Amino acid sequence: MPDVFRYVNGSLHAEGIDLHALAARAGTPLYVYSAAAMRDAFDRFAAAFADLRPLLCYALKASGNIHLCRLLAARGAGMDVVSGGELERAWLSGTPMHRVVFAGVGKTEPEIRAALDGHASPLRAVATDPSGNGPDGRGPVGLFNVESEEEFLRIARLARELGVVAEACLRVNPDVDAKTHKFTTTGRSENKFGVDIARARDFFEAHGRDSHLRLRGIHVHLGSPIASPAPYVEALGPVLALIDDLARRGLPIATLNLGGGYGVDYGQHGDDDRPASIEAFAAAIVPLLAGRVRAGLRIVMEPGRAIVADAGLLLSRVQYVKPGRERTFIIGDAGMHTLLRPALYGAYHFIWPVRVAPAFAPASRAERQPMPGLVSSDVVGPICESSDFLAQRRDLPPVRSGDLLAVFGAGAYGMSMGSTYNDHPRPAEVLVDGDRATLIRPRQDLRALIEPELTTPPPI
Ligand code: LLP
Repeated sequence: MPDVFRYVNGSLHAEGIDLHALAARAGTPLYVYSAAAMRDAFDRFAAAFADLRPLLCYALKASGNIHLCRLLAARGAGMDVVSGGELERAWLSGTPMHRVVFAGVGKTEPEIRAALDGHASPLRAVATDPSGNGPDGRGPVGLFNVESEEEFLRIARLARELGVVAEACLRVNPDVDAKTHKFTTTGRSENKFGVDIARARDFFEAHGRDSHLRLRGIHVHLGSPIASPAPYVEALGPVLALIDDLARRGLPIATLNLGGGYGVDYGQHGDDDRPASIEAFAAAIVPLLAGRVRAGLRIVMEPGRAIVADAGLLLSRVQYVKPGRERTFIIGDAGMHTLLRPALYGAYHFIWPVRVAPAFAPASRAERQPMPGLVSSDVVGPICESSDFLAQRRDLPPVRSGDLLAVFGAGAYGMSMGSTYNDHPRPAEVLVDGDRATLIRPRQDLRALIEPELTTPPPI
């Protein structure tokens, strides 16, 4: 990965843009993305798995700004969406619908209708795709990832009603431990996701010949982030056995969707204990599938984090510095409402001042920085909860009110998991491309938060 976020004369830059100057113009809290980093991550992913010729459907839940999606769609990415809202984002980014995968465990009828027929889009009257096309010809999504029998029956019924033929994968739950945080593990039998792989054959026997929802694929997603290829390899054994079994029963499988989950290096441990690189994931997975791909199996993948995590930074402006008994509290304008991952999962993000004396320029994103004069600090936000932290007991250079902090590796599940808790408007987003910065989402206007409650409440 090109080092797109680097210190130049003690000031952090995103590609050619000085972040101190950018924050002065755009305000804080601010998400900043690097176009070069996104392109590089996408291309690197595609190159690693090239032998499988996969359709890479970007999981836009990781970071769904339409301008980021457009950048990826222009490189040939499809989109993995999990709601009607994400479906509209995929459409508005110019992604052809046949490259869209509709996943998610609780698809509602209106969402399914919009995925089958553009005329059912809630934005049909007000929006067009980048070529100016309205919902005419939007078509059904390329694949539904079906999570239960009731869902299958619902989609099949709606497809029949609308006179549309759609394709589906059955999401199987292989009961494999992805060894990640319990909140983001999805492939164990105790998780709500997918259909028990032991029941998959019966499912296909019952529904594999439906004329309107053609069930021709298997989907498997184990969790996120996954640090090693081992769980994928473990899951592929029973999945490939299922595919062979179904073929023998006259139920051929055309598509295998491997889901997402590929971990990235947030830098916490320096050189020790790094998660596998994307090339290492590919080295373990590709040989298991290459022969089948040559024989006609189509592979779909749904990476989110691997494409955007490293391409995004969050900037927080220090409001107050408060000495505590055994640590200092650095109170910034970004908190759990801006970046939830530390509060929810205890996740690690490297944090460092945007401007530092040359002696304090960090050589890595490790938690322990080998420098004298650091201060044990809790980086916290303005929210009225003690879970409102971005880092705890972190050794940082001394900072003062008015300084800017950069939170690294915040491109995935940052903005997208943010909230307006305590009535904080949502932050702005900026995309940097070389020495050009564009405001891809303005800071939310406080009025937009409050206005819906200012009208006289109608009876209901
Ligand atoms: N496909 C499915 C079916 C998924 O559920 C997910 C993520 C992905 C693909 C994309 O996974 P990725 O490649 O980004 O790892 N909020 C958590 C992560 C939750 C992931 C949810 N599903 C976090 O901040 O770590």
